[in-house]
Amino acid sequence: MLLEVRDLHVEFRTRDGVARAVNGVSYQVDAGETLAILGESGSGKSVTAQAVMGILDMPPGRITGGEVIFQGRDLLKLKEAERRKVRGAGMAMIFQDALSSLNPVIPVGDQLGEMFVVHRGMSWRDARARAVELMDRVRIPAARERVRQYPHQFSGGMRQRIMIAMAIALEPALIIADEPTTALDVTVQAQVMDLLAELQREYRMGLVLITHDLGVVADVADRIAVMYAGRIVESAPVYDIYKAPAHPYTRGLLDSVPRLDQKGQELYAIKGLPPNLTRIPPGCAFHPRCPLARGLCRVDEPSLFEVSATRGSACHFWRECLDG
Ligand SMILES: Nc1ncnc2c1ncn2[C@@H]1O[C@H](COP(=O)(O)OP(=O)(O)O)[C@@H](O)[C@H]1O
Ligand code: SF4
Ligand SMILES: [Mg+2]
Repeated sequence: MLLEVRDLHVEFRTRDGVARAVNGVSYQVDAGETLAILGESGSGKSVTAQAVMGILDMPPGRITGGEVIFQGRDLLKLKEAERRKVRGAGMAMIFQDALSSLNPVIPVGDQLGEMFVVHRGMSWRDARARAVELMDRVRIPAARERVRQYPHQFSGGMRQRIMIAMAIALEPALIIADEPTTALDVTVQAQVMDLLAELQREYRMGLVLITHDLGVVADVADRIAVMYAGRIVESAPVYDIYKAPAHPYTRGLLDSVPRLDQKGQELYAIKGLPPNLTRIPPGCAFHPRCPLARGLCRVDEPSLFEVSATRGSACHFWRECLDG
């Protein structure tokens, strides 16, 4: 197993009290596998990713439990210097907003080239040549000329391609992409997602794809983990989830996806809002919004029940949900 996150807990001290952002998240990603992590805004997707990457702001964040086993080592036990090495060569991250992740005053070619100088000990001349190759690889037109340009001279889609180039530069075993296409136009979204999926297959990388858009994951993901209030509430192969969700929250997300064959029809949206993480409801955290909720749900927190060998659901009434 390439990456195994075990029972991860992350808290934030806030003025309101302790926000329990990640409450016992476990997932696994194999080489060459794409795991999509899905959930509304504020469900703990980014915080989980930051804890795995070792870029969580501490304070205010605090990892209060769990393990992050990457290529056999628990990253949470490594010293920062070792951690940085893993981050440079072993795993890379792609963010939603390239403009704030790239340095505005350094030409993109130099930002790419620096990775080869720092991590591979290349000369700047060779590193620049590699930068052009990489920009070609992510299909940036006229790479040889554009390598000298600055981030603001590229369109949003092209900047996202540069981020992808930075991420794959050192051929990492794992990429975590946090809403990589959310800021882009719909047509550009599809192109960037296709490129990412193509590179992931070519390099046999593990990919953790964080998104709130179920439409995006259907074609590219192998498995889906659905997060709610800092927990994984359903985890299953993509095919199973689309066939029949085993958690009412997953069903709500699925029903919220706009469908081309139902144009003009009002979208079903899950009623209510996600909970404030300083005051997560007792029992099943989803119960105030759940159409299937009943007495048991308000007092008894469901664990991740085994629906099948490859599928889990944290719902007392998953059978009922599966049957639709
Ligand atoms: N820097 C921070 N300070 C305080 N609380 C934070 C901070 N970052 C995240 N949180 C808390 O963690 C929750 C989950 O955030 P996040 O992982 O970014 O959600 P998302 O699923 O949208 O990526 C937030 O709703 C907030 O309560
Ligand atoms: S445990 Fe109850 S409230 Fe929670 S998702 Fe299942 S039916 Fe709904
Ligand atoms: Mg996020």
